[in-house]
Amino acid sequence: MSKIELIITNNYEEMSQKTADIFIDLLKKKPNSILGLATGSTPIGLYKILIEKNKSKIISFKDVITYNLDEYCDIPKSHEQSYFTFMNQNLFDHIDINKDNTHLPQGEGDSKINSENYDKELNKVKIDIQLLGIGSNGHIGFNEPGTDFDLGVHEVLLTENTIKDNARFFENDINKVPKKAITMGIKNILSAETIILIANGKNKANAIKNIMKGVADKNVPASALNLHKGKVYVIVDKDAASLL
Ligand code: GLP
Repeated sequence: MSKIELIITNNYEEMSQKTADIFIDLLKKKPNSILGLATGSTPIGLYKILIEKNKSKIISFKDVITYNLDEYCDIPKSHEQSYFTFMNQNLFDHIDINKDNTHLPQGEGDSKINSENYDKELNKVKIDIQLLGIGSNGHIGFNEPGTDFDLGVHEVLLTENTIKDNARFFENDINKVPKKAITMGIKNILSAETIILIANGKNKANAIKNIMKGVADKNVPASALNLHKGKVYVIVDKDAASLL
């Protein structure tokens, strides 16, 4: 069983800074790190700090390789809400990374083949740090409640809860939110050396409480972090910690 290191910060800025400090340390020690990255609004503050540190030459991404957790199906890569677009706009376009070294699951086309291909790629590497946000229902990547912890990369049908949560990115219209996605499985996530889950806001408090019970429960996908053999950090603001 892993002992999760819980770090409670005062606010979103501090949560982002604490997380950035761990990434900066790693990149200084290991410039050719392999990073597992996440989308959503939570990591944006962290990415801003990493961009700033890259611009001031404190860290370089020249030799860094990245793998993202997930991607929507049924919208083109060029869609303004695809995770491909998100990663370029919020990080890759602003740092010295070689874009050939950035990887996301392929959302368009045959999901089965796309999942198998991404799984094969991931099985060839060891991710140094896997970053995670969390859905209000405890999902990580797009592993929704009930997902088998042994699954590798796979296609998922998003739950109503996630579709509603993510409608804010699609003009608040649930009909515009893609219904399917491809995601790393819990198995892929748990094979990273270190995992950092970040969360802010009251709507994440229940999910954080469920992780910190210390038990891996299929109904709370993020609670699988309790099974991780390596280091796990859960870095939250006061609001996300308010039910602990
Ligand atoms: C999406 C992503 C998750 C992310 C979650 C939370 O569903 N697939 O990886 O953690 O949203 O998003 P936010 O950080 O915007 O609350």
